[in-house]
Amino acid sequence: LARPELIVITAGDTQGRALLATVVDDGARFAMDDPGGAYHWEVVRRAGGQVAALPVDQHGARTDLLTGMDVAAAVLTPAHQYPLGVTLHPARRHAAVRWAQRSGGLVIEDDYDGEFRYDRQPVGAMQQIAPEHVAYVGTASKTLGPAVRLAWLVLPARLVAPVVEAKQYLDRHSDTIGQLTLADLIDSHGYDRHIRTRRLRYRRRRDLLVTRLAGLRHLTVEGVAAGLHALVRLPERGPSERAVLDLAADHNLALQGLGDHWHHPGGHPGGLIAGYGTPAEGAYPAALDVLVRVLRAVDT
Ligand SMILES: Cc1ncc(COP(=O)(O)O)c(C=O)c1O
Repeated sequence: LARPELIVITAGDTQGRALLATVVDDGARFAMDDPGGAYHWEVVRRAGGQVAALPVDQHGARTDLLTGMDVAAAVLTPAHQYPLGVTLHPARRHAAVRWAQRSGGLVIEDDYDGEFRYDRQPVGAMQQIAPEHVAYVGTASKTLGPAVRLAWLVLPARLVAPVVEAKQYLDRHSDTIGQLTLADLIDSHGYDRHIRTRRLRYRRRRDLLVTRLAGLRHLTVEGVAAGLHALVRLPERGPSERAVLDLAADHNLALQGLGDHWHHPGGHPGGLIAGYGTPAEGAYPAALDVLVRVLRAVDT
């Protein structure tokens, strides 16, 4: 459990990350997942940080490389990496914590979709292991919806005052009505109930996606143990990622390509990021039908 005096409420994970980048030295380097989210890199840059690519493999971010990277902070998505969907291996978690303890660096633990874990117990927060070295960021963006601009930082004690000060001059404070509403939802156990029913719903959607795509010969589905998106790997020989995205768009299907998520685009294996949280419940089976039709057409 986090101590209340270490918690700062922000307007989404985005503002939380921006504030953290503001209070770390100007021009400091942040290690950020490669592949990862270009938007999130830009948030750090605009808050005065520089971004260094941290490779990700099947065990998660290569935190074993941090020691040689000359960075002041590492932004990680340990529960479910975006976009590959892998979970940070315990050895990599330890490597990140060890790096932070030895170098004085800061780990930013972006727990954006950690509530939605389907195949085993939730992964414990790294912040609990090393509270003085890890800033935890949780958000209502996936649990309630991206329109709810509320997130919560659990900070190392030394960062509370600088973050609060930076926030005061940015927007004074986060929307109070929204906070009171969320507090009421939590106190009434409505938030927990909502997450439990959503977890079941998303798990069903995930299972359906995996079942429907299991028949594909050359395309594989990865990163489905948690979260609201799956990665569909395209075969090396076959239609290009761009061609598949265009075909999907022709069928009114909004997929993202893995190609846009690299620090240095080009020359990477192709993939599609299929988010399954967004469609209305009644529309999901039909959306899945379209996805299967598109993928069958390119699975040659
Ligand atoms: C990696 C990652 N972190 C955080 C978020 C959520 O950001 P916010 O809370 O600002 O909506 C997202 C949203 O999709 C994300 O992909």
